[in-house]
Amino acid sequence: MNTILQKIDKNNPQNDIAVLQKAAYVLKNNGLVAFPTETVYGLGANALNEECVKKIYLAKGRPSDNPLIIHISEIEEIYKLVSHIPKKALCLMQNFWPGALTIVLKKSDIIPYATAGGLDTVAIRLPNNNIARALIKECGFPIAAPSANISGKPSPTNATHVFKDLNGKIDMILDGGNCELGLESTVVEVLEDKVTILRPGNITKEMIEEICGQVFIDKAILQKDLNVLPKSPGMKYKHYAPKGEITIFNGAIENVCEKILNLLSEDNENCVAILCEEALFKYKQFEKYKTLNIGSIKNEAQIAKNLFYMLRECDNINAKKIYIQSFNDTGIGFAIMNRLKKAAAYNIINV
Ligand code: TXA
Ligand code: MG
Repeated sequence: MNTILQKIDKNNPQNDIAVLQKAAYVLKNNGLVAFPTETVYGLGANALNEECVKKIYLAKGRPSDNPLIIHISEIEEIYKLVSHIPKKALCLMQNFWPGALTIVLKKSDIIPYATAGGLDTVAIRLPNNNIARALIKECGFPIAAPSANISGKPSPTNATHVFKDLNGKIDMILDGGNCELGLESTVVEVLEDKVTILRPGNITKEMIEEICGQVFIDKAILQKDLNVLPKSPGMKYKHYAPKGEITIFNGAIENVCEKILNLLSEDNENCVAILCEEALFKYKQFEKYKTLNIGSIKNEAQIAKNLFYMLRECDNINAKKIYIQSFNDTGIGFAIMNRLKKAAAYNIINV
């Protein structure tokens, strides 16, 4: 298959109406189109058509029990997709949509089980990205879209990442530049009165609690015990991993830097260190080695935005070993550490 890659104006996609119409044409004819959202790029297909959705699983190499997120362009579109909307879910929609919050609710009959990964629930999100919303509108149906990477790889935060993973396997990629947030959405399950975070993201537990009171966190994301099955099926699979082996160093930054410098001095050929800019600035010895600057420790949003990009850079430079510092586990840091620990298969050393 020949994958078409086309740029599209992210501020005003209507300026590129021909490109938008072409992408909608592909989707209406049961094809696959990757498109940007504010979190990561998604791999889209008609969410209401089982045959289309199956193509997503095939292209990504995704296990069929891992359900997809359905993207809509206006709040009203949710009503025909779910059987009931609890009050707390409505409050969350009103406060965080459009945005990086995915809400899991009981599905209606029009959602094929292929989209829902065989579950009776469905995950819905209204993205805060002009291209994504214009595309959904142009199609006239909701778009199912997981992150547009090969299953197990870091999520794509630009069109080049998508092209590298899926060229030849999908019909089209819309290039709308870099994703602003760089980490996938927060996934919450809302039962009548109980809100549980199934996957942390930029919209934090504290932000959600401010709107709807007590919020629980799915036990499976707090520990690595593989016997505790996560409620979000996708969280049980290996994830976000570059080819090299990642080690996370946890401790005072001085100890972390000293330890990493020691390791780099033993093998500077195959290794790379990912550190905050403050550490790289303070320890000039790092200049001799391969390093990646993940941003300022004072700016968690920037670190979140850079994380997957950095992990993909490690593959570009063929790093066999990747050393990375750990980050604060609160706020957005909770989401950063969730992705990082999975990418490192919980290979964490306290120093
Ligand atoms: O930011 C995002 O969420 C991106 C963009 C493209 O919107 N999408 C994304 O999709 O990250 P994906 O498929 O890579 O991750 C979806 C997560 C998976 O962990 C999946 O198991 C979970 O959402 N999920 C989907 N439907 C669910 C359901 N009915 N119940 C529980 N978890 C669900
Ligand atoms: Mg994904």
